[in-house]
Amino acid sequence: MPIDPRLFCAVDFGTSNSAIAVPTADAGMALVALEAGQVTMPTAVFYRVEGLAGHEPPERIYGRAALAAYLEGQEGRLMRSMKSILGSTLADQSTDVGEGRAVRYRDVIAGYLQRLKTLAEERTGAPLERAVLGRPVFFVDGDPQRDAQAQQALEDAARACGLTEISFQFEPIAAALDFEQTTDHEALVLVADIGGGTSDFSLVRVGPRRRDRLDRRDDILANHGVHIAGTDFDRQVELAAILPACGYRALGPTRADGAPPREVPSRVYFDLATWHLINTVYTPPRRAELQRMKGFYGQPEHHRRLMQVVDERLGHALLTRAEDAKIAVAEGGSASIDLALLAPGLQVPFDATRALEALDADLDRIAQAVDVTLQMAGVSPEAVEVVYFTGGSTGFAPLTRRIGQRLPAARAVHGDRNASVANGLGVHARRLFR
Ligand SMILES: Nc1ncnc2c1ncn2[C@@H]1O[C@H](COP(=O)(O)OP(=O)(O)OP(=O)(O)O)[C@@H](O)[C@H]1O
Ligand SMILES: [Mg+2]
Repeated sequence: MPIDPRLFCAVDFGTSNSAIAVPTADAGMALVALEAGQVTMPTAVFYRVEGLAGHEPPERIYGRAALAAYLEGQEGRLMRSMKSILGSTLADQSTDVGEGRAVRYRDVIAGYLQRLKTLAEERTGAPLERAVLGRPVFFVDGDPQRDAQAQQALEDAARACGLTEISFQFEPIAAALDFEQTTDHEALVLVADIGGGTSDFSLVRVGPRRRDRLDRRDDILANHGVHIAGTDFDRQVELAAILPACGYRALGPTRADGAPPREVPSRVYFDLATWHLINTVYTPPRRAELQRMKGFYGQPEHHRRLMQVVDERLGHALLTRAEDAKIAVAEGGSASIDLALLAPGLQVPFDATRALEALDADLDRIAQAVDVTLQMAGVSPEAVEVVYFTGGSTGFAPLTRRIGQRLPAARAVHGDRNASVANGLGVHARRLFR
């Protein structure tokens, strides 16, 4: 019997990219084309206020179109990595999206989920009420209470857009379910889902005879994860290669008492290099505080550029340059980071050596999470037969190599980096709701 397509969907709300799957007439699941035929969409919203009268609400633009509107310099505010706000104190706060219009961060997330749901409903032709939502193993590391709050905040956002029956599944388990669709024999698999916000691991027994069981608790040997992934790599690249041009780690003026000069305060640079915190740098009190710090800078040029970044809201543009350079290096090339927007002709070379310097500590912490996952399960590294990689950050070979080296007997399988989790959530949703 065909499934009634009105009934359910599966949502991969990712830090960087999101996707939604719905049932098909032949009892399968398919990802919905969200934008220009693409089945994943950047987790980005642009609140456009250009040309609006004071009382008019901002127009919301999503995904690639949101990034384009920001880069074109349209008046408004870009939001990215909203998932990182779940579980932080920002979730209940508001942000100014331009000319005094305040938007609650929670509502940014609900609006984005609503967009995914609307596009899915255009495809199914009927309202969706039930959903499986993916979640990382930890929204918040080492704090179960805040972690539970983060899941609740995501559930609330889903309810706010009309989903009434909501179930959660770990993202790496979803990836395992997707991988399992393609296996013809039983294997012990370590799933490594390394995305934008989190690196998640599951040690799972998969196999054709197991895959139709709904309750897989016996097959899941361990779940573990850390809050370090692609957006942290972007931060390290920006701090290493771009923000020194705006004074990061620069020294203050020579001091009258002959004491060594102090380093300039660094908090603003960390905020500028963290996708979901960029907008916090633009508030009037924060701007005033930064303006007053002029005297802390040994080179006035650094402070001038920092204020330009704030006044022209270049935060996302600079971090995008860091991300682009990271991806260029991951794909085997090198990059010349163009900073002409800060100073005519300013370019910073970036290559694999610099990337490894910047990312070494993060890569190690991710690889250590593999050891913890195996320890949790009481399984020796030699027993792992397959390591299954998914998530955009597994495009970075030094990372997958470091993980592979810890699993001497494992065959490396690279899944669909962008869609494996969403597909697997679809598999789970179909079993759950059918
Ligand atoms: N070729 C590449 N090499 C390395 N990293 C890449 C590549 N392409 C994209 N990325 C990075 O992958 C990350 C996004 O991956 P993905 O879409 O899997 O994350 P997500 O699902 O949104 O995040 P999460 O699952 O952590 O919430 C970004 O940080 C992006 O810069
Ligand atoms: Mg993901």
